Amino acid sequence: MRLKRDHTCGDLTNALAGEHVRINGWINARRDLGGIYFVDVRDRYGLVQVRFGNELPDAILEAVRHLNNEDVVAVAGIVAVRPADSVNPKIASGDIELVAQDFELLNKAKITPFEINKRETGSEDLRLKYRYLDLRTAELRRNMEIRHKAAQSARRFLSDRGFMEIETPVLMRSTPEGARDYLVPSRINPGKFYALPQSPQQYKQLLMIAGYDRYFQLVKCFRDEDLRAERQPEFTQIDCEMSFIDEEDIRSIMEEMIVTIFREAGGITIQTPLPILSFEEAMERYGSDKPDVRFDMEIKNVETFAKKTEFSVFHSALERGEAVRALKVPGGAEFSRKKLDELTDLAKKYGAKGLAFVKVSEEGLQGGIAKFIPQEASDLLTVTCETVPDDLVLFMADEWEAGLTALGALRLALANEFGLIRKDEYKAVWVVDFPLFEKDKESGRLMARHHPFTSPKLEDIEKMETDPLSVKARAYDMAMNGYEIGGGSIRIYDRTLQSRMFRALGISEEEAQEKFGFLMGAFEYGAPPHGGIAFGFDRLVMILAGASSIREVIAFPKTTTAQSPMDGAPSEVDKKQLDELHIQLRET
Ligand code: AMO
Ligand code: AMP
Repeated sequence: MRLKRDHTCGDLTNALAGEHVRINGWINARRDLGGIYFVDVRDRYGLVQVRFGNELPDAILEAVRHLNNEDVVAVAGIVAVRPADSVNPKIASGDIELVAQDFELLNKAKITPFEINKRETGSEDLRLKYRYLDLRTAELRRNMEIRHKAAQSARRFLSDRGFMEIETPVLMRSTPEGARDYLVPSRINPGKFYALPQSPQQYKQLLMIAGYDRYFQLVKCFRDEDLRAERQPEFTQIDCEMSFIDEEDIRSIMEEMIVTIFREAGGITIQTPLPILSFEEAMERYGSDKPDVRFDMEIKNVETFAKKTEFSVFHSALERGEAVRALKVPGGAEFSRKKLDELTDLAKKYGAKGLAFVKVSEEGLQGGIAKFIPQEASDLLTVTCETVPDDLVLFMADEWEAGLTALGALRLALANEFGLIRKDEYKAVWVVDFPLFEKDKESGRLMARHHPFTSPKLEDIEKMETDPLSVKARAYDMAMNGYEIGGGSIRIYDRTLQSRMFRALGISEEEAQEKFGFLMGAFEYGAPPHGGIAFGFDRLVMILAGASSIREVIAFPKTTTAQSPMDGAPSEVDKKQLDELHIQLRET
């Protein structure tokens, strides 16, 4: 390479006018103007217009004539201020151009499968296959830049406050709780497997026992679960743990960290202190444990109203101890039958048994279940839901959490449709007081809602055996704009309480000993009171970048079927490799 760069494209400004510089980069566009060529050269830092005039040697002009987009070039020339009428305000270097004096073609490029300047010319599948080309687009370059800044900001913030970054193993022992593990066979230990960590949870607790009282790690986690826009099989956490603290300490330092990351990486202000909602309140008002509080449209408890109606669905639900809740849709009275059916289908998709409605008009309630609503009940509904003519009221009678979750999904879908969500706002909340346990629908077994190391609230400990579902956890989540961005808890640090927890979960002493023995054993050597939290780093960056999927902020993401179209992972492997690992595939 003859013309090695001494400046990047982003360096060139009118402050360098008259200077001789060399740049290296990719051809972004070329325009021929009768013997003069204007060529845009791009690198990671910016874009600059290069002018190849007809005073240049024929060999150079000939080479430039054959340039294609994405060819790699080197140019030497003089920075010149553009005449006022050819200034391009759209690019940072729009008031200058580089007048070429020398040129070197560093490499040719094939015609790309989609246009780097027009991302929409490639489907997402095609762009994932050629991810290295997609990463050249302005959109992904910006996202990667934000991701980098956010990571640096988190590291600086935590390090300045005494947190130590410590790496924990990627090959660990498989443990039964949570999502499915990714397993790695051991060649040296036939028939044995490592698991990739779903999170460094146990290691970080061991680090607390070891005395490293403020730990953090930007760490890859692996979960073999069903994927969605905000879920990847491997993702990154900002994982933190602290000793000698309580919930308030964690909440205050962590919200300061989030505020700092959003300010430094996105220039975004987040109002603090963050509101704290109990799980119950979040569910009752927003139908979600990760509420989007950028708009109101709150759910209302209408059980008193329901009792005054003659609608049998309400009465039988209440008799079963279920809940009746309502969601008012301003202006929804004009919805067609088809639209209402769509909403019902959506509610059912979220597990609802059905959806009832009435429309509010000047003359009173109409349509849907109006005929079952006597005047007294109607008056009560007007007050409870503050209805006005043209409103639509949707009703759900169902088991408490399921019904509210379905109404919450409708709330979000309708707000999106009506543009009620202020996209340029960033509103975070803490959600606390989660139940410690939940019942597994299929097996009826008690499961830890967070994980089995989460401490129950001290005042609820005595109910662990007698009324486990009423026990609250010392757990907290942070939600932002409707996404769960982080979650954590104060941990159990007492060996006896940990045993009671396992027993409540139906994990026998032997099983606990076999699966978690190392951690349980460690608790006997002076475990400090401790707790922590982990933030979904990809989700944070997705919100920061205004992206709609975490795939947009991960350099090399997987598809929703956990594949990488670029390198073809996962792939079949040689029989020899399998033999070495003592693995035999079943005939299918
Ligand atoms: P949890 O399982 O809640 O807690 O995970 C913490 C945060 O990680 C993010 N997250 C994900 N992001 C992308 N893809 C996924 N598949 C995915 N799964 C989770 C979420 C979530 O809030 N060890 C505990 C933390 C603790 O108790 O300290 C844990 O992993 O934003
Ligand atoms: P059905 O009695 O099943 O014919 O339902 C009568 C109306 O009540 C229909 O509009 C159903 O969608 C609605 N509905 C049924 N079950 C529920 C429920 N659990 N909550 C609210 N509405 C329901």
